[in-house]
Amino acid sequence: MTLNIQAVRSKFPALASGFLYGDNAGGSQCLTDVAARISDYLLNTNVQLGADYPISVTSTNRVASGAEAARELFNAESVDEIAYGSSSTMLVENLARAIEADVQPGEEIIITGEHESNAGPWKKLAARKGAVIKLWPATQLAQYPNNPYAVGLQLDTLTPLISSKTRLIAFTACSNILGSIVPVKDVISAARALAVERGARKIEFCVDCVAYAPHRQIDVRDWDVEYCYFSFYKVYGPHASVLYARSASLQNSLSSLAHHFLKVDSKPYKLQPGGPGYELVYGCTGVPPYLRSLTAEGTLEAAWAAIAHQEQALLEPLLAYLRAKYERGVRIVGEESAGLARVPTVSFVVVGERPIRSPDVVKAFDAKGDVGIRYGHFYAFTLVDKLEPKLNVDDGVVRISLVHYNTVEEIKRLVDILDEVLA
Ligand SMILES: Cc1ncc(COP(=O)(O)O)c(C=O)c1O
Repeated sequence: MTLNIQAVRSKFPALASGFLYGDNAGGSQCLTDVAARISDYLLNTNVQLGADYPISVTSTNRVASGAEAARELFNAESVDEIAYGSSSTMLVENLARAIEADVQPGEEIIITGEHESNAGPWKKLAARKGAVIKLWPATQLAQYPNNPYAVGLQLDTLTPLISSKTRLIAFTACSNILGSIVPVKDVISAARALAVERGARKIEFCVDCVAYAPHRQIDVRDWDVEYCYFSFYKVYGPHASVLYARSASLQNSLSSLAHHFLKVDSKPYKLQPGGPGYELVYGCTGVPPYLRSLTAEGTLEAAWAAIAHQEQALLEPLLAYLRAKYERGVRIVGEESAGLARVPTVSFVVVGERPIRSPDVVKAFDAKGDVGIRYGHFYAFTLVDKLEPKLNVDDGVVRISLVHYNTVEEIKRLVDILDEVLA
């Protein structure tokens, strides 16, 4: 169950320099094997797909294997449920276009204040169709009464928003600011039952897994979700993103964005108006073998369990340090305690009598030259904007975001710098 960290790190050439990568929620480092596959595709099989000559057959198979890699990571039933795109943001915009004809005026779409990728496209769709947007806000966690910034998405806040008009609920499996994991299966099952009970015509869910996918196993079938997406550049791969659309929804809820003469009825091409970057799609096939190589069991399940375990070893000391700085004005933004419902994406602000602006905290890290962390709202604009007492939304929070290849020694380096800043 314990990861061999030296072996893990050796798979990521960028880590050899000793630079402390602490902005992994922005993007992770890339596996050697992924880069090798991209290079191999470009140098040896860079032809158009679908022809009958041998190299084209190889290219076609390579790109198809990219869909299989994503299918496996989603635990989807079929590769026909996978669409590739250049970014998650673009894929959700496409999804909102494709679903447009099946959203009626007056119907309601529930969004969160989390990353705008799962909010903006729905707001624009609502404006086009005369639908209504409702916000499921992150609210204060009762167990931390002394910290107004200890917030999270809570089911009790969602349920009153559900009505006979609810058509779609778009939320995040893991916050890219708060680091907290939302119990996706429970939320979907409770919300779906309520929507049906309250007489909704049709209810579907769209779950943002971009901040979740580097840390935990997705299971679209167990979750019973219609639409779900993540970006490989945060999961040790290249800049390519994937959207799962359940086959029943592809068939019954979505219109095609593809050329009119293409026969795409129940195919993911409906959501792919134009080909994705083929070499990147092929590069993504390097991710599942890496995960399987992490444990003796050789399964994705065992890999994700080992990753979750390793991450807690990073999270616990970092959160403990920040909690101990409460009197100095440090407020963790999000869940204050480690645990399996949390990933090592840790945000905080420094307030009180001697406040420090988030950009100034990060400046001290930048000055070291060998560590990268970041400040801001990280496109979870509404979440940060709604925090009370109010913060400057552009300064946002300081975010340290780690993954399983980070080390306990690196936590010590981070804490030493924080000690200088907070002195
Ligand atoms: C939670 C979350 N959702 C969505 C996105 C957007 O992903 P992409 O850059 O692929 O559009 C990000 C990127 O930071 C994110 O953190």
